[in-house]
Amino acid sequence: MKLFLDSANLKEIDEAVSWGAIDGVTTNPTLVAKEGREFVPLMKEICERVNGPVSMETVSRDAAGMIEEGRAFAALHQHIVVKCPLTKEGLKATRQLSHEGIRVNVTLCFSPNQALLAAKAGAYFVSPFVGRLDDLSQDGMLLIQDIKTIYANYRFATQILVASVRHPIHVAEAAKIGADIATMPFAVLEMLVKHPLTDAGLERFLSDWERLPPEAKQWKASAAAAPRGKAGIRASR
Ligand code: E4P
Repeated sequence: MKLFLDSANLKEIDEAVSWGAIDGVTTNPTLVAKEGREFVPLMKEICERVNGPVSMETVSRDAAGMIEEGRAFAALHQHIVVKCPLTKEGLKATRQLSHEGIRVNVTLCFSPNQALLAAKAGAYFVSPFVGRLDDLSQDGMLLIQDIKTIYANYRFATQILVASVRHPIHVAEAAKIGADIATMPFAVLEMLVKHPLTDAGLERFLSDWERLPPEAKQWKASAAAAPRGKAGIRASR
């Protein structure tokens, strides 16, 4: 399963990229507004930092407006995927933009039938919002399972991008179901790394290392100081 970062914050994006952890980025007007930056330059900067799809959301209510925005967004950078909402107008725009070869992420999906319509319109991604369903006491992950079954039954190529992820269990469940992608805030990505037994185990190993005879520490110091070869590998002593 691919992991996307749900953020428009460049520091968060740089950090996640440095872990080799993310395959793309999703944004929405709420996330962009938090950054207090001009929309288009910020989106271009995000595209330059990430080697993968970057979702950029249209803000028109009618199909004509979404199509116009979608064409302009797609021309900004090859990584851009245009986000259209799951409305009648959004489906019209998805159909047209997809015909033109522009990738569309159909967002704000809350039911299996909506996901079916997104796939028929030619969506590249569909974004079911699991956290917002959970907020209404509906199990968001059941929707992911339903979409997975429907898309497999009819061999739709639309990729399932699990969105509105709130915690690591959403991510693990999405992976078990076989969703294509999960997009998550930076705080959730950090939670995927953490485990108290990892931290406790590391502390124990490092304190035991301190009890080794002095030769071990000398070796460590000389290994760190040794010149590096072309591939960055230090010569052995
Ligand atoms: C991503 O594409 C969505 O816009 C995002 O995941 C929504 O998350 P939220 O429900 O936490 O706002």
